[in-house]
Amino acid sequence: MASSPLLHVRDVWKRFGERITAAGVNLEVGNGEFFTMLGPSGSGKSTILRMIAGLEQPDSGRILINGHDVTLLPPWRRELGMVFQQYANFPHMTVAQNVGYGLRRRNLARETVRKRVSELLGLVNLPGFEERPVTRLSGGEQQRVAIARALAPRPRLLLLDEPLSALDEKIRREMQAQLKDIQRATGTTFVYVTHDQEEALTMSDRIAVLNWGHLVQVDEPHALFRRPKTKFVAGFFRGSNVIEGKLIRDGGNHVFRCTSFEVMLPDSVSQPASPPAVAIRGEDIRMGSPAGPGDIAFEAILERMTYRGVYTDYQLRLADGQSITASATSGPDLPIGQPVQVAVRLGRVIPLHAEPV
Ligand SMILES: Nc1ncnc2c1ncn2[C@@H]1O[C@H](COP(=O)(O)OP(=O)(O)OP(=O)(O)O)[C@@H](O)[C@H]1O
Ligand SMILES: [Mg+2]
Repeated sequence: MASSPLLHVRDVWKRFGERITAAGVNLEVGNGEFFTMLGPSGSGKSTILRMIAGLEQPDSGRILINGHDVTLLPPWRRELGMVFQQYANFPHMTVAQNVGYGLRRRNLARETVRKRVSELLGLVNLPGFEERPVTRLSGGEQQRVAIARALAPRPRLLLLDEPLSALDEKIRREMQAQLKDIQRATGTTFVYVTHDQEEALTMSDRIAVLNWGHLVQVDEPHALFRRPKTKFVAGFFRGSNVIEGKLIRDGGNHVFRCTSFEVMLPDSVSQPASPPAVAIRGEDIRMGSPAGPGDIAFEAILERMTYRGVYTDYQLRLADGQSITASATSGPDLPIGQPVQVAVRLGRVIPLHAEPV
């Protein structure tokens, strides 16, 4: 965490009928942090965000902002901003009227509002757009207006629920970079919701992965990507292979064994995945090069090659029938259906833990 927590979600539970959408969620988000909740559709991202906003009440648990318990406060008394997937602008107003809306309601002087609006339009890269009717803008521009409006009262906390998902790929990438710049420039704490792993990895200081209302893993992007804790997290990031096997005891040690290799499990894996499993990233699988002392090595059958430009994916079948995909810089084709020698550094074989469900 960047510094002292600005947001503290403490043991929050929420059910809709039989459905648990927050299962004892605990979160601390630091002041100035870009924090992302990532998970598949229906995992509870929006519900948790709406509880932070005050649009939904938890069944139990507390929400603290800046050390104050806001659990019972209405949204407008929580001093936070919100941006949603749909551009929530007032269609009959100009850009400046939209951005200045919250400021005018605070009875600020006209000139103060004008200056602040122009400053915000600069920040979201829409300088000079003041008098444009908001409905004439592109989707990306409308969303930037919504962001400027949410930032106008200088909230310390901005909640964003899939704000870029209605935009096309290219604009979305540009906006990702811009959002990160805006967050840095203003020092505002962002709590961001997305189901897009790449979006989460590129923008966030930390990411919380959600499944069925459980926070499965909270980590910095590289840690989450390199060291997924569970099958669910490994499966969520493209390029990870999950290999299942058995656990055997060897003296005091637990050893993961599949037909192709075995690795010792560290003591930190107190509750191994069920069935036992390890994860290996596609780019950590080497083919055809000799195995060194710190490697596991095995033979696999090359079943398919998929050219992806810079990289080629090599689908490999292990002796027990499990399939994994190695990803390597595109080179000469290898013969399909033939055995290949495979090596992986021992440190790149990630033992997986049980899901916290
Ligand atoms: N007001 C409600 N009444 C009943 N069920 C609800 C309500 N709000 C959410 N749910 C249910 O809670 C679960 C989690 O919903 P939520 O919107 O938080 O998921 P999400 O992770 O944001 O999904 P998505 O990526 O599709 O937006 C879903 O099964 C949803 O149908
Ligand atoms: Mg949602």
